[in-house]
Amino acid sequence: MMILPQKHSATGTTIFTVMSALAQQCNAINLSQGFPDYPIDERLGEYLYEATREGFNQYAPMVGLPQLRQAISNDFAKRYGLEINPDTEITVTPGATYAIYTAFTAILQAGDEAIILEPAYDSYIPNIETNGAKAVPVPLMAPGFGVDWDRLKAAVTPKTKAIIVNTPHNPTGAIWSKEDWDKLAELVRDTNIIILSDEVYEQLVFDGKKHYSVLEHEELRKRSFVLYSFGKVFHNTGWKMGYCIAPPEFTTAFRRIHQFLCFTVNTPAQYALAKYLSLPQLPNVGAMMQEKRDYFLSLLKDTPFTIHEPAAGSYFQTASYSAINDMPDMEFAQWLTKEHGVATIPISAFYSNKKDDKLIRFCFAKKEETLLQAIERLRKL
Ligand SMILES: Cc1ncc(COP(=O)(O)O)c(C=O)c1O
Repeated sequence: MMILPQKHSATGTTIFTVMSALAQQCNAINLSQGFPDYPIDERLGEYLYEATREGFNQYAPMVGLPQLRQAISNDFAKRYGLEINPDTEITVTPGATYAIYTAFTAILQAGDEAIILEPAYDSYIPNIETNGAKAVPVPLMAPGFGVDWDRLKAAVTPKTKAIIVNTPHNPTGAIWSKEDWDKLAELVRDTNIIILSDEVYEQLVFDGKKHYSVLEHEELRKRSFVLYSFGKVFHNTGWKMGYCIAPPEFTTAFRRIHQFLCFTVNTPAQYALAKYLSLPQLPNVGAMMQEKRDYFLSLLKDTPFTIHEPAAGSYFQTASYSAINDMPDMEFAQWLTKEHGVATIPISAFYSNKKDDKLIRFCFAKKEETLLQAIERLRKL
C-alpha cells in the first residue's frame, strides 16, 4: 500500500462534520455546526438567477469582480469610515477558511512559528502545519476568554511569523476591545510579526457593544490580513464566499498564492453579492441575531445549563453542563445528541491539547421554533 504524507497533525474528521452527521443519524436538532436554518433574503436568490440570465457565467477576474470589490469598499466607508482601495487591498475568495489558508501560505515558510489563541477555529493549526510551520497555542483565560498577555508575550520567539486573532470569537462569543488591539500593537511593535485577523462575525455584536476591527488600528492595519465571510452575515454559508483585506504589498503576496490555488471565484455569486451589498439599506443582522440570542438565553434558564455571560458577539453561546453530569465534554455532546436529541459542539475540540472545561457550544442562528424545540428537550434533563 502506498503511504501518503500526513501534512498536519489533525488526523480525524473535523468535529463540525462529525456532530452534524451524528445529529442527522439520530434525528437530533442540530445546534452544533454554525449555519442558519432559515431562508436567505429572497433578493439575493433573485440576483443570483439574474446573474446567470445576464450571462455572468464565465471566469471572473482573478482578484474578484470589480463591482463586488467596489461594493465592499463602499460598505467599509459607510460602516467604518475607512478607505479601502478596491484594486490593491481587496481580494474576493471562496469563503474565509480559504482566505485564512491563503494568507498563511503567503507568509509562512518551513520552520516558522505562528501563534494561535485557544480555543480556536479548527482550521488554523492544520493550515499552519501544511505550510511546514509550527502552531504555537496560547490559551485564553476562562471563563471570560480574555488574552493572557504575559503568556502571549512569552510565546513570541525570533521564529514567530504570525499571530492569528478572531473577534468576535468562535466558540466563546468574546470580542476584542480597543485596548486589546493596543496591547497587541505594543507586543509586536519592534518585530516583523504579521497579524491575521479573522473577523467573519464582525456584524454580529450585541448589547450596543462595538466591533473593533484591526483595520481601525492605524499601526496594526499596516501589518494585517483581515479575513471575512459573506456566509456569516448574509446567512448563506453554503455559497462559500468571502474576501481578504490587506495592504497593497500583502495583497500582492496573497494573490501570488490565490491565482494558482483557485484563480477565481464563482462569478454569478459575486454578481449577486455586489448587487445586494449595493442596496441603500440592508437588514440589520446584528439586531436580528441579538434577538435570537436573547430568546435562546431566556429559554436556557429553564434548563440545568449555566452560562458565565451572554455572548457579546458571533452566533454561539457556550454553556457549562457541570450541574448535569461530569462526563468528558466529547462524551457529553454525543450523549446529549443520542439520548436527548440535541447536537452541540464540545469546547475541547477547539484546543490542541483537548482541554476540557465541561463546556459545550450552542449555535443560536436558528428559527425560533428550532430553538424552542431544542429547549423543550433540554428541559427534561
Ligand atoms: C472563526 C471562523 N472563521 C472562519 C470561518 C469560515 O468561514 P467560511 O465558511 O466563509 O469559510 C468560520 C466558520 O465557521 C469561523 O467560525
